[in-house]
Amino acid sequence: MANKIIFPESFLWGAATASYQIEGAWDRHGKGESTWDRFSHTPGKIRNNDTGDVANDHYRLWKKDIGLMRKIGLQAYRFSISWPRVLPAGRGKVNQKGLDFYSKLVDELLKAKITPFVTLFHWDLPQTLEEEGGWPNRSTAEAFVEYTDVITRSLGDRVKNWITHNEPAVVAWMGYATGHHAPGLKDYGLGVRAAHHLLLSHGQAVPVIRRNSPDAEVGITLDISWRYPASNSRLDRELVRRDDGKWFRWFADPLYGRGYPSDKVTDFTTMGALPNGLDFVQTGDMDTIATPTDFLGMNYYSRSVYRADGEDNDPQTVFPQPKMPEHWTEMGWEIYPDGLTSILGRVYFNYQPRKLYITENGASYSTPPDEKGNVADELRTHYLRTHFAAAHRAIQMGVPLAGYFVWSLMDNFEWSWGYMQRFGLIWVDYESQRRILKDSAKWYRRVIRKNGF
Ligand code: FCB
Repeated sequence: MANKIIFPESFLWGAATASYQIEGAWDRHGKGESTWDRFSHTPGKIRNNDTGDVANDHYRLWKKDIGLMRKIGLQAYRFSISWPRVLPAGRGKVNQKGLDFYSKLVDELLKAKITPFVTLFHWDLPQTLEEEGGWPNRSTAEAFVEYTDVITRSLGDRVKNWITHNEPAVVAWMGYATGHHAPGLKDYGLGVRAAHHLLLSHGQAVPVIRRNSPDAEVGITLDISWRYPASNSRLDRELVRRDDGKWFRWFADPLYGRGYPSDKVTDFTTMGALPNGLDFVQTGDMDTIATPTDFLGMNYYSRSVYRADGEDNDPQTVFPQPKMPEHWTEMGWEIYPDGLTSILGRVYFNYQPRKLYITENGASYSTPPDEKGNVADELRTHYLRTHFAAAHRAIQMGVPLAGYFVWSLMDNFEWSWGYMQRFGLIWVDYESQRRILKDSAKWYRRVIRKNGF
């Protein structure tokens, strides 16, 4: 048998979810409409026209769900707050019922000795703010700070771990530039402006959180894929530069005080996305964005291999590796644990965050319950085991990785994929709202108990 892998003593084992993906109750108790409500209610946007209207009915079943977290033995739980549930119009009047929901959730988690990690924004923007221009508009950042103030004044005595944003790159590029996500706009100029205001709102929110939540730790979560050229050719490497710049450096560089990467300013200018240059960047913004934080959250799932198909090809074209089913999850994402070791090393040694969390990692497999009601999802267990081991190698290299959140606690609404993709440690029957601990959850319970495997 291979050597045992044991994690540092204070290592935190958790699981993650997001409000729109699990809560349902989209218009209950005074909740306002979000951009994801609007988007999913627009025919043709989501596979099968699925919506998050009911989702996992977690708004009603939250106590049971905490019971299941206890069964797995989770030490931490990362969830997000629905902004329009608390501020239905995005700013101004507070919906007390919405705030009470999260307050009770936090109390019950603490009672269960599960540390809450709260994400303030996991994509469900109040629709009223979108109608004023959404993230491309500077006033959305101001509204975010007001929302942050409301939440942290109410929960800041009990919640001590805060994540401002989840994957701002996905919001900017998929929400505003390609339109695959809410609000579904297709304009790179809007995407670049959205990115700036997401980052700005993060920097402006950090001191507000610190004021309202003494001794709290604050960070932001970025999506991080290991981007890799298929060969050492100039064109393949050029593809990696472009995408790594757009998805990662455009966010990480300003957060760590380096400003926007100049090669990407050139790219965006060439694309016509900066008709008036960086006119939306005001004096002091870059310092605000670089406000020191306590940790960086990383969501890692896969690597991307880039190949330009010969010297004359347009280097925008990306050719994935040929698909071998045993190496790909049902999302069509390659299983590549070494990428996690590599990216943790790169990010830590290059940017020097004080510490890191894997705020999401997991795999989509639709393995259903068998006749006995067991969900034998050994593919997921294998995915998690190899990725935990990859994270452990990074720790041995000196990376201060402090915890790991499996995506996801339970099957849920997977954005434009609807309910087809199942990432959960817990099976959800959406008809009956029955939940079943999958075999991977039982395996995870043992890992947590032993702090390794
Ligand atoms: C991430 C999202 C998360 C989930 C996973 C699969 O990009 O943050 O909500 O959908 O992908």
